[in-house]
Parts: sequence; C-alpha cells; structure tokens
Amino acid sequence: MDEAAKFSPLVARKGGALKGRVTAPGDKSVSHRALILGALTVGETKITGLLEADDVLNTAEAMRKLGADVARQGEGEWRVHGVGVGGFREPPDVLDFGNSGTGVRLTMGAVATVPITTIFTGDASLRRRPMRRVLDPLALFGAVAESREGGLLPVTLKGARTPFPIEHRLQVASAQVKSALLLAALNVPGRSTIIERAATRDHTERMIKAFGGKIAVEALPDGSSVISVTGEAEFVPTPIAVPSDPSSAAFPLVAALIVPGSEIVITDVMLNPRRIGLIETLKQMGADITITNTRDNGGESIGDLVVRHSALRGTDVPPERAPTMIDEYPVLAVAAAFADGRTTMRGLEELRVKESDRLAAVAAGLKANGVNVEELSDGMIVEGRGAEGVNGGGDVLTHMDHRIAMSFLVMGLASRNRVRVDDGSMIATSFPNFQPLMSALGAAIARINR
Ligand code: S3P
Repeated sequence: MDEAAKFSPLVARKGGALKGRVTAPGDKSVSHRALILGALTVGETKITGLLEADDVLNTAEAMRKLGADVARQGEGEWRVHGVGVGGFREPPDVLDFGNSGTGVRLTMGAVATVPITTIFTGDASLRRRPMRRVLDPLALFGAVAESREGGLLPVTLKGARTPFPIEHRLQVASAQVKSALLLAALNVPGRSTIIERAATRDHTERMIKAFGGKIAVEALPDGSSVISVTGEAEFVPTPIAVPSDPSSAAFPLVAALIVPGSEIVITDVMLNPRRIGLIETLKQMGADITITNTRDNGGESIGDLVVRHSALRGTDVPPERAPTMIDEYPVLAVAAAFADGRTTMRGLEELRVKESDRLAAVAAGLKANGVNVEELSDGMIVEGRGAEGVNGGGDVLTHMDHRIAMSFLVMGLASRNRVRVDDGSMIATSFPNFQPLMSALGAAIARINR
C-alpha cells in the first residue's frame, strides 16, 4: 500500500466541558526497556501494564527474532523468557522497528557487543532519523556498522566479537543513546563509563539495578552524571509493573486546562523527576493541577493528577528543563496558544530530529489555526491568544508524527472552529486508545472521509 492510502484524517471540535477520571496507557520508555531487559534475563520476567502500541509491539517482535520467548497473557500482561546477557542469536530476518527511535536505538545497543549480525530498518519517518549518534559510540566497543549515506537506516550492525570497555562522554542529551551504550556495556568484561551532561530519563539505569546488574551513578557538582556499568551481568528475573505514561497523560491534561469548565482526574501517572517538566511549566503558567495519592510503584513514584480549566499566562521555559519534557513541547505550544502573553521555548535543537521536525510542524500547525509564532533555529516563540481565543479552522500536516496529531486535536477541542489533522493513524504508535479515552471525557474527536 502506498503511504498516502493509509492516511486517516481526524477532526476535533469544541463541545462541552471535559469531565471524568481516566488512566493513560503504560509508559512507552519503560515498556521497551522491560521487554529488552526481560530478553536479557534467563528465567521468566512478568510484565503488567505493558503499553500495547505499535512501537512496543515491534520491540517485542525484535526480541523474539533475537531468540527470546515473548508471550502475551492478557491485557497488558506479558511474560518474557530471555536468553541471558550475551545470549542473543542472529536474527533470521531484518528487524523492522516501524516508527520507533527508542526501539531501534536501544536494540542496536543490546546487540552491539554480541557476535551476531543484525539488520535494522523502520518506516519512512524512522528512515529519515539520525543513527550515527548511536552507531559512532557503539563502534568504540568494537561494533562495525554499515548504513545508508548520512547514517540512515537500513543499518547492518556486526556486533563486537571481543568487546572492550569504554569511557564516553555523550555528545547529545539523549536517553536513547545513553541507554544503547549502557545495554551494550552489559556484555563487556570490565567497567564501562558513560558521562552525561544533561540529566535525561533514567529508566534504563533504574531497571538494570532492579534486575541485579552492577551500575553506579555519581552526580557531579556541575550537574553532569557519571554512570558506570560492570559487564558480563547476570540478571535475575524481576516483575515489572509499567506505570502510566506522563507523555500520554499530557494530552488530556492540556485539553482539560484549555476547555472551559473542565475538571478531570488522570490516575496512576508516573512522576519520575526526569519526566515531569511539563507539569512544572504548566504550573508556572498558572495551571490548576493538584497531585494526589502519590505512592511508590516498583521503584517509580506515581500519583493522580486533578486538573481544572485554568487561565494560563505565557512564560519563558528554561532551556535546561528540556530533557525532562522533550516530547511535550508540541502540546505545550498548544497550551501556550491559549495563554495570555508570549511563551518562549529554547534549547530544542533535538526537536528537529524526532518523529518529524517538530519545530517546523508545530509552527506550521499553529499558523494554520490563526496563532502567531516565530520559529527559531532552536525553539519557538508563541504569541498566546488569551481571551481573544484561538480561531482554529486549520488543516494540520502531521508528517507521520503521533504527537503532532494528538496535540492539534487537543487544540481543536477549545478553538472556535474545528481543527483537522491529515492523519491520525500514527497515534497507534504510542496511545492506541487516545480517541476512546478522550471521548470518555466528553471530547468530540471523529474520523472523517477525505
Ligand atoms: C526516549 C528518549 C527520548 C524521547 C523518546 C523516548 C527513551 O528520545 O524523545 O520519545 O525512551 O529513551 P532522545 O533520547 O532521542 O531524546
């Protein structure tokens, strides 16, 4: 089928206030890692609350092709019988990760120090995204990669036969690159050290520890962290209860803030300090968000968010906060469009290499809906419409990016005229029940004929 034939346009319109109590789906980052670490563990790893979205299902399939026994036992309930660190077998076919940068990059790391050859590919969006950022440091372990011009997929990776430990300072603030290197280090004799300047999400570190791996993290006074992994790890199976994804909760959260009269509760949201920059930023903008019922859930703190419609004010988002809300800028830009005054977001070069060029896609979507925005090389300045309100009426190009689709559908719920997105099919990569969940709150989002 050609790509255009799969397009599935959606439209969102203004309706009544949003009300109710919902639970966002399982966290995507934790779900990928649970499957990969389970595959590296001899014995049975039980996973509950796994995100059953396309991105994660592709990782599950990849782990099967690498020799793990991965089975679904019920809704969100999975078990993995792994092969042990270093035990992957050469996959009999190409591993196709669809839309998922996390799946492909983490798996590259996991096979880079195993003496097998693996071929990686993905969809049109993933085949445009940079892989050198992970392949170059993996070469330090002794892995050899061949890619298309510019470090693009498909990639053939020959894992190192006799890998050596590395010491490496990350060149980009990326949890995917960091995690790839940590996973590679697991099968290397001796201690590898990875230094990160900006604190990106730390689910891999936490999970390696939970599985009994030898990992130490030292925070330096300048804000950087030194992460050391001692290889030839032997993991002990550990049950994983996947908490709800704060990056998915962000959509009903912003919707409730901008639709007048709304009051909703989003339950069981993961509150890992490296993932909650959006909540902090929205509060700074005057958002009425109360966190209740906080508790521990297998090493991650979770809680319920009570969210009420709020008069928002524009703000300057500190660039150093970016890693803690990197996936939330598109929906923050929508919140900013409804705020009074200007919102400035900087330090966001990484947004140009996500599922789409998110700075360009968000700026185009805002303009199409009557919101003034200045696109910068590393960010954007959104002129909030405040009391005047957002006109809407625009047609938004999503460029195979789930978060662009969901962000602008949220905009349509509060703008004067409907907002249409050209393709909602990619929403299934991270939030398969987005539409029913939003409908349960009273949101009017519908499929339309082209
Ligand atoms: C992720 C890391 C981030 C984020 C992505 C998930 C992860 O990517 O954008 O959605 O699970 O490690 P980068 O590491 O490229 O910033």
